[in-house]
This record gives sequence, C-alpha cells and structure tokens, in this order.
Amino acid sequence: MTSRPDAGLPDDVLVAEIRQAYADSADGWATGPAEIYRHLARALVGVATDDLAGARVLDLGAGTGVASEALLEVGAQPVGVDLAVEMLQHRQASRPPGVAGDAQRLPFRTGVFDAIVAAFSLNHVPDLLGTLTGCRRVLRAGGPRLASTFPSGDDHPAKAIVEGVLEDHGYRRPAWYGTFKTRVADLTGEPANLERTARAAGFSSVRVEHVPVEVGLDDPHLAVEWRLNMPHTLAFVANLDGQAQLDLRRAAIRELTGPLPSAIPMLVLDARAP
Ligand SMILES: C[S@@+](CC[C@H](N)C(=O)[O-])C[C@H]1O[C@@H](n2cnc3c(N)ncnc32)[C@H](O)[C@@H]1O
Repeated sequence: MTSRPDAGLPDDVLVAEIRQAYADSADGWATGPAEIYRHLARALVGVATDDLAGARVLDLGAGTGVASEALLEVGAQPVGVDLAVEMLQHRQASRPPGVAGDAQRLPFRTGVFDAIVAAFSLNHVPDLLGTLTGCRRVLRAGGPRLASTFPSGDDHPAKAIVEGVLEDHGYRRPAWYGTFKTRVADLTGEPANLERTARAAGFSSVRVEHVPVEVGLDDPHLAVEWRLNMPHTLAFVANLDGQAQLDLRRAAIRELTGPLPSAIPMLVLDARAP
C-alpha cells in the first residue's frame, strides 16, 4: 500500500477551527497582536491612491477593528465582516457596523461597496479564487481592492524564536494551524500566485508590492505579547498556571537577545474591479 501525502484538514473543518480559534482569542488579540496590526492596517490604507473620504469600504476580516480605525482616519465609512462574531464584538458600541460572515460567501448585494480593504484575512481562506471573485462582485465598477498578507519565507525572526521557547515548555502546534500555514497562508504569500488569482477573479490593474512596515518590534516585550496572544498559541498559554506563564515570558525575553528588526515585511495586493 502506498502512503499519500497528508492533505491536512478538509476545508470546512479548517474554516470552523479558524473561526473557533479567533472566537476564543478575541480579547488576547486586542491586547497583543493588535498593537502591531494597527500599524500594518494604517500602512495598508496608506497604499490607496483613491480618495477614500466618504467611500463605503468593506473591511474584510475586520477582527477587532484596526483597519476600520485606519479607514475612519481617512474619512471612509467602513463596514466590517468577520467569521468570528466575538472579534466583531470588541468595542462594538464605538466601532463601525459589522456582520458575521465568511469571506468566501460574502453576504452583501452586488456592487454595494466603493472599495475593499482586507488586512491579513485573505491568508485565511482556503478558496482564494472564490473569495476574490466574490469581492469583485460586491465592488462597484472601478472600485479599488487592497489586501495585505505576509510574504512566504520572509518571517520576522521573533516568530521562530518564541515558537521554539513555547515548544520547550510543551507547546505543540494545533492541527488546524499546520494546515492553515502550509495549504493556505503560505500560498497567499507568493506574489505570483496572488497576482494570477486576482486576475483570474476578473480584477484589472493588479499589482503586488513588498511594503516593510515600522511596527516597533525591536521591543522584545511587544514581540512576546504578539506571539503569545495569537489564536494558535493563546489557548496553550492560558492553560498554564500563573508561575508557568511568568517563566515562559521570561524565557522568551531572554531568547530574544540580539537586535530585532523593528519592521515587518508586508505584501500588498492592489487591484481594481473592471
Ligand atoms: C489576522 S486576523 C486580522 C484581523 C484584522 N484585520 C487586523 O488587521 O487586526 C484575521 C481575521 O480574519 C478573520 N477570518 C478568518 N477567516 C475568515 C473568513 N473565511 N471570512 C471572514 N473572516 C475571516 C478572523 O476571524 C480574524 O478576525
């Protein structure tokens, strides 16, 4: 009998696991990673060449709302959509409206948005072509679509260092995270794949560019809170007792000794509905 390569989790199971992981880590996201993603969202919105003042913009995978904040700063009128309603509930009373839904099946009418911004959410969808095709459908003709992801193979060094410390303390990657990384996230981190898929979905003026963003990650404390509050690590950390959490944080800070790059590499997809 020949063994087949491990295909990982089926798509529907993967999406359900991603939803649950974000639902469980909404508070952690807001206090850890959001400090970094706030800068990334501003930089992404800053790539827009259109004047977004007054524009109705879909914040795809809105999470706790950092891209919506950046859109409000330029006078846009964002509407969020996210798989995890718990992420949308963060500061719900004071943020723009949000709808729980899957980016792969957008629950909006055709041509209803002037623009779409997807800050680090496209890298979560197993069906990238279907998602981009749906984005084109809900965009008005000529509307811009901006999306960010991390370039494959160009990770900030804190990621591997903190994961190594976590493993020394007994952490193992959840199954969904392995499938997510190799079968979904890493593919959107390939500029040629991103560009080809956006064109296949019917977008024009497609460009993919590398944009390094200054996020202050030379501070090891920030780097540790970023990595320990991710949806794939938070549950492990939260299950440790207070002393073990303290030991883990101290060990991670100790390992992040050399000078860390302050910036993160970001990949931006800039395209337009025909
Ligand atoms: C890395 S977080 C980014 C959140 C926010 N945009 C930011 O920059 O802080 C990814 C977000 O995408 C959402 N997400 C993942 N898969 C999704 C899907 N299929 N449809 C809609 N949202 C999804 C997650 O729930 C999470 O809030």
